[in-house]
Amino acid sequence: MIEKYSKQAAKSRIKELSEKINYYNHLYYQQDTSEISDFEFDQLMEELIRLEEAFPEYLLEDSPSQRVGGTITKQFDTAEHAVRMLSLGNTYSEEELRAFDERVVKGLGHRNYQYFCELKFDGVAISLIYERGKLIRAVTRGDGFRGDVVTENVKTIRNIPLRIQGDNMPEWFEVRGEIFLPRKEFEKINAERETNGESLLANPRNAASGTLKMQDSSIVAKRRLNCYLYQLLGDDLAVNTHDQAMKLLVDWGFNVSPTFQNCPNIDAVLAYIEQWKEKRHSLPVDTDGVVLKINDYGHREELGFTAKIPRWAIAFKYQAEAAQSTLLSITYQVGRTGAITPVANLAPVSLAGTTVKRASLHNANEILRLDLHEGDRVWVEKGGEIIPKITGVAEESRKNGAKPITYITHCPECGSELIRKEGEAKHFCPNAATCPPQVLGRIEHFVSKRAMDVDSLGTERLRALINQGYVSNPADLYDLPSKQHQLLGLEVSEEQYTKDREGFLYIGLNKALYAITEGLSLSAIEAFLRTADKADTATKLTFFEQHLRKIGKKVTENLHVLHRLRNELEARPFDWIVDFLPVYAVLRALGNLPGEVAEKLEQRCREKNSVHDILLPFHKILHPEYLERVKKLKGNTFQEGVVTNMLEGLNNSKNQPFEKVLFALGIRNIGENTAILLAEHFTSIEKLEAATEQELLEINGIGETLVRSIKDYFQEKENRDIIARLKSHGLQFESVREEPILVSAKLSGKKILASGKLNHFKRDEIIDFIQSHGGVYVKSVSKALDFIIEGEDMGPSKKEKAVKLGVPLISEEDFMEMVAHNDQE
Ligand code: IVH
Repeated sequence: MIEKYSKQAAKSRIKELSEKINYYNHLYYQQDTSEISDFEFDQLMEELIRLEEAFPEYLLEDSPSQRVGGTITKQFDTAEHAVRMLSLGNTYSEEELRAFDERVVKGLGHRNYQYFCELKFDGVAISLIYERGKLIRAVTRGDGFRGDVVTENVKTIRNIPLRIQGDNMPEWFEVRGEIFLPRKEFEKINAERETNGESLLANPRNAASGTLKMQDSSIVAKRRLNCYLYQLLGDDLAVNTHDQAMKLLVDWGFNVSPTFQNCPNIDAVLAYIEQWKEKRHSLPVDTDGVVLKINDYGHREELGFTAKIPRWAIAFKYQAEAAQSTLLSITYQVGRTGAITPVANLAPVSLAGTTVKRASLHNANEILRLDLHEGDRVWVEKGGEIIPKITGVAEESRKNGAKPITYITHCPECGSELIRKEGEAKHFCPNAATCPPQVLGRIEHFVSKRAMDVDSLGTERLRALINQGYVSNPADLYDLPSKQHQLLGLEVSEEQYTKDREGFLYIGLNKALYAITEGLSLSAIEAFLRTADKADTATKLTFFEQHLRKIGKKVTENLHVLHRLRNELEARPFDWIVDFLPVYAVLRALGNLPGEVAEKLEQRCREKNSVHDILLPFHKILHPEYLERVKKLKGNTFQEGVVTNMLEGLNNSKNQPFEKVLFALGIRNIGENTAILLAEHFTSIEKLEAATEQELLEINGIGETLVRSIKDYFQEKENRDIIARLKSHGLQFESVREEPILVSAKLSGKKILASGKLNHFKRDEIIDFIQSHGGVYVKSVSKALDFIIEGEDMGPSKKEKAVKLGVPLISEEDFMEMVAHNDQE
């Protein structure tokens, strides 16, 4: 496509695309909206990049494509700040603020000054250096004197101008501001990390600072950091006040927070603080206070600095917002890794603009530290974290005799005794093998889009397969084809069931009445049940009998079965559970059962979790009419199409490459990128398993924690068994090196190296090209080379070496010619 562009057309398309992309970036960052999908955006960017590659002469220095990243920084250089990056003094009350104002009056000797107010953004301070309008360096605050040079990462932030033109632009200037991760982005990243089983980022500030120090700028680009600028420094600036400087920044295209305001005196500052107290929560960035600065630069100079902070500016910090509520109960959540997290359920209370009903308690220590008792009045605060936390107990309001909260000893999901490892704060459920949320979490991850990509296995279906004993690890999934006939009719929704203390399965009254009667729809039965809402289950049955007589549909048949049901319920005294009936009684009432079924029914009703599973072995001997009635008892079931889809999806997943399979295994700390890294490096699971700690640590990006996780994983026999089974099902545990197809033997036996930038090929492409014509690609300059293809900007030392060794250098054109020429022979 691109080749078809004339130079002129390419130039104007590049311009058009750049403008479009800049416009969408502007919408995204300034208006927080988007008119196109991420996919469409990426397509525009891709087209621009391809055009720029084909027509490098039209590549603009400040092209939006310069922000997709791709540079890897192994270690950040440091640079000294031209002007020290100071911090600010803090105040927490009106009194402290007025005292600051009095110091200003004293320092200046008059009250004729203005404040410039702005919110205090909770991000990472940054200094941007521009020379002749071009961004040349971005440096973090560091210790105030020196910081890390993070230019490549900062360039990916799309609203930081790479190049600016404008009036009054000095040769050199510096802009300072705050880089932050918008709350929405933060939540998106954490949601993704959660699905990947990665640890969650604590808050947007930490996430921003972590992102800024990432080695791969293309990952930074994906994180969508943002930036507010709030200070301009330079020698020849044509401004005398801060608000003029801010206006200049806006004119030059810098992103300035729209929250700023001039305040003529300290009372106006206090009004500003009050005005933003609640409203600040609607901003895209976390804020923790207000910064007030003297507006006039002359005044600033007069006031000067103390050792660490300016006398002309100060921060006012909002009190972390707190509210009181009542502890209703504690829920213990079991995570994918088995970690138990206690969550406090609270009486709803309004806090920082939202209604809070739950607060995290982290772990058992936290409950002890707070000395929580049942029904306590507690203080809840919202800090930088999204989930509010309990910060204390209003002990004076504790009821007499209130019991202290005792931590659970057994897993609420599977009943296993919890463990707590030495030195760890969290309790764990050790039953990784069969504890349902742990199994579900692992398998959900396994089939997820970015792992094995089996989209016909959603959470509900998986839960059904797990809870009904079909699947407890990823390898079981691939045994499903041999159980195809059992899957048909498997129930998806289990809300209709419950169990009594003896483990007997119960089914919802609505379903039971629907199955035993004819001529009544489920919704009609539910409407009837609503009229008898307050009655107990036994009375409801009596009312239902009257109801059946009244509506007069199939009275004899319906009453007959209803009597059978009542007899069953009396014959074997079951517990009454509100709005549920024992499946055992219902199945017996539905018709006469063959002896073989009747014999085993009681036990199966205690062991199995659905009607489908109870009757599974008897499908062939049960009367079709009976089975029709049973159908009405079931929840949503797996139909033929669903089963076929599922099995097909599983079969297709066997083509997923090794790195996806490795990621799918869910080894702790192995995310998508690490999986790619390991798969590339070791090329097979056997080699990865056999790798020594040293070998693993030598890989850039692999640290101690990861090595531990890998070792722990392979140590478990269960894991090794699962891998063996997956392997036997044909999943890919080896990287497939695609052998290039031999197009000709034109370069047969030739040892070739390419160096510098080529016009026709990317790095991998030239290697493939050489190999596809029978040549051998060699990575370093040596005497053994037949020739070197010399691209643009070939490194001088390489060139020197080649000349010294007498290896011929040929141009890319000559090389192309050589292959083409040979063709005609
Ligand atoms: S002005 C002389 N304005 O707060 C210091 N700082 O505690 C001039 N900060 O390092 C700083 N929002 O990272 C200023 N609107 C704002 C700010 C702000 C956040 C940070 C900044 C600084 C720290 C000082």
